[in-house]
Amino acid sequence: MQRPFLWAHRGASKIAPENTMAAFSSAVDLGVDGLELDIHLSRDGFPVVIHDESLQRTTDGQGLVADASLKQLQQLDAGGWFSPEFMGESLPTLAEVLKAFGGRLRLNLELKEFAAGVEVLSLLRQYPDAEVVISSFDYDLLKGLRSLDEVLPMAVLFDDGNWRQAVRFAGDISACAFHPAGNLVCRRMVAACRKLALPVSVWTVDQEAQARSLMRMGVSGLFTNDPSALRSARPLLVSSL
Ligand code: G3P
Ligand code: CA
Repeated sequence: MQRPFLWAHRGASKIAPENTMAAFSSAVDLGVDGLELDIHLSRDGFPVVIHDESLQRTTDGQGLVADASLKQLQQLDAGGWFSPEFMGESLPTLAEVLKAFGGRLRLNLELKEFAAGVEVLSLLRQYPDAEVVISSFDYDLLKGLRSLDEVLPMAVLFDDGNWRQAVRFAGDISACAFHPAGNLVCRRMVAACRKLALPVSVWTVDQEAQARSLMRMGVSGLFTNDPSALRSARPLLVSSL
């Protein structure tokens, strides 16, 4: 039995401001297998790394990401809200993340809008060494991207509704993984995914006990804000199986 694939959710977002280079570097230092990040488009069409569609929560800016140019977004502080230690941390572009981490570990790019997907596909052509998986809760978005790219690795996010339909959809679009919320995972879901050769990676898991219980159900990956908590649990997880 393999150890779980450990994804840093928005980077090591427990110890550094989410979706910043500081959070990604910290996660790499902690030995994760992959980085999860969220993408929105600037007004002028550049993919930038931020979770919310608005700027208020995680930067010193106001309004929508989509209403600001890349230049304006790059002037914002994306670290001071978390702690004064991180003041001056900027909002990264996807290109910066691909350049820094693309050839080093896997990147899970979560998309919220189809237009961003089109820009991301185009940008990815400049980073052939980057190993990425595109995920989304928006199934039309995933379907649309599949029609543009037959081999793009895609994961289906699931947090609501009928999991059987969602798993079937993942099979229909030849997804490479199924990503359900932790409270919704059950053995039948994992078994249904296994029949379609779909690995299951679960979000967001920061407690060792929950990680262990999910591993016993047969999930193969975990998204965590706190890689150090689960990293130390990994040998236990493996030996308990
Ligand atoms: O990839 C799983 C997770 O990131 C989805 O939820 O809101 O944290 O982006 P959220
Ligand atoms: Ca996300």
